[in-house]
Amino acid sequence: MKELVLASNNAHKIEEIKEILANYNILSLADVGFFDEIIEDGVTFEENALIKARIISNYTKKIAIADDSGLVIDLLNGEPGVYSARYSKEKTDKKNIEKVLTKLNGKESPAHFVSVIALVTPDGEEITFRGECHGKIISEQRGNNGFGYDPIFYIKKLNKTFAELSNKEKNSISHRKNSLNKLAGYLREQINEN
Ligand code: IMP
Repeated sequence: MKELVLASNNAHKIEEIKEILANYNILSLADVGFFDEIIEDGVTFEENALIKARIISNYTKKIAIADDSGLVIDLLNGEPGVYSARYSKEKTDKKNIEKVLTKLNGKESPAHFVSVIALVTPDGEEITFRGECHGKIISEQRGNNGFGYDPIFYIKKLNKTFAELSNKEKNSISHRKNSLNKLAGYLREQINEN
């Protein structure tokens, strides 16, 4: 079975990726004994995902994948973007949401989530896969599921926020599902060609 190292210790992401890439043996950072902090100082999702995947591929000499994600809000000129996890100084979901709502000052705005997965091989091949999910930011919080900005991210055709969806429903339409599907398609092509 082919091996891939996933540059993440986030149990939720590891599970989701294992489900979609069922033909691969997915190793976590703990599995390969990597415990250092990786500084994500890129200014795009692609850069940050590549920074992580490069370091882990170089460390393990195996194929590595890493993801970076965040929320892009049109009326805030793309904020919080790559700073989504650390938008407020407290860096909590609650304070991050409060900062968005304060800045929007009662207005709604088109927005989308982005997930970029980078794949880096030991011989230097680098490729990124981008998934997006489009919706809008509403001014009231709805729902208790999910994490991050889910309670204010509204999908019109479902008449629900991400936080009002079950995990299964969210995972079937999410930005991460989208980027992972692209990665899975690429890996399938590689197997057929080799
Ligand atoms: P990272 O990709 O783990 O660095 O996470 C980036 C940040 O983007 C998270 O901490 C959340 O604030 C936000 N984010 C990414 N994906 C989602 C999502 O599916 N729902 C809500 N917030 C998200």
